[in-house]
Amino acid sequence: MTKRVFVTRRLPEPGIRQLLDAGIEVVVNDEDRPVSRDELLAGVSGADGLISMLTDRIDTDLLDAAPELKVIANYAVGFDNIDVAAARSRGIEVTNTPGVLTEATADMTWALLLGAARNLGAGERMVRAGRWTGWAPTQLVGQPSGGRVLGIVGMGAIGSAVARRARGFGMSVVYFNRNRVAPELEAELGARWLPLEDLIRSADFISLHAPLNSESRHLIDAAALASMKSTAVLVNTGRGALIDEAALVDALRSGEIAAAGLDVYEREPALTPGLVDLDNVVLAPHLGSASTEARSAMVHLCCDNIEAVLAGRDALTPVPG
Ligand code: DGY
Repeated sequence: MTKRVFVTRRLPEPGIRQLLDAGIEVVVNDEDRPVSRDELLAGVSGADGLISMLTDRIDTDLLDAAPELKVIANYAVGFDNIDVAAARSRGIEVTNTPGVLTEATADMTWALLLGAARNLGAGERMVRAGRWTGWAPTQLVGQPSGGRVLGIVGMGAIGSAVARRARGFGMSVVYFNRNRVAPELEAELGARWLPLEDLIRSADFISLHAPLNSESRHLIDAAALASMKSTAVLVNTGRGALIDEAALVDALRSGEIAAAGLDVYEREPALTPGLVDLDNVVLAPHLGSASTEARSAMVHLCCDNIEAVLAGRDALTPVPG
């Protein structure tokens, strides 16, 4: 019998051609907006496979409405939008897109790190608003990177790619990860493990790459922000809820930390009141994986995972756990 896959949002090239070529029937929400809950429920009913976005909540109610479902391919490396245990207990495989967006996300991390450290957002706003009156010795003076300490929280593939780039900026790297990485990788990256509290207290730049789960929610809370250096720059390209966003607004407003660069937010696309009024934060609209190469490779990987599972083979990139 022909298999059916529901795709919750229009995908970049090569799109779903690969699935059609494999003889799979594909239903796509071809509008460039997230599906509503009702559309999602209708879409999964009778579907054998699902390509979901990080904006789709895949919970037990949804899984109950999808008795035929065999595989969920999340178009993201993060999968905090999916109740993985509930899916697996129903025999549904869950996959993500690791590896293919590592370099794109590491690049975005550095764009935010440097942009926040050197007041790029504030400078751009000044120029665009016609408020720039010319060069001045004291204008928008920021934090240098050379010789400073970069603290990486979550030393997976993306954290490691961020660390690799630090060498080019003459920075030293410390990291926190629940499990220390292999000594060979520590040596390659020139990275030293520190307890989280020590990293937070001592790093000049702090970049978050931990997965979001019940343990890591609000990892950076008011107390953590208070213990950072007043010159610290905080960067988040992981998941918004790793930071207590209201506490961050207070810390940026009071000068408890110097600056932040954010790609992700606690309640996307809503922002905590006050955040947009601050000049010492650079705000990007969740662009970490948004390079042509990464976004196409993510399509391929989702389709490969769907094809494999529907053909009775193992998924290429099942989520851990
Ligand atoms: C991911 O893959 O988890 C990213 O957040 C998507 O850009």
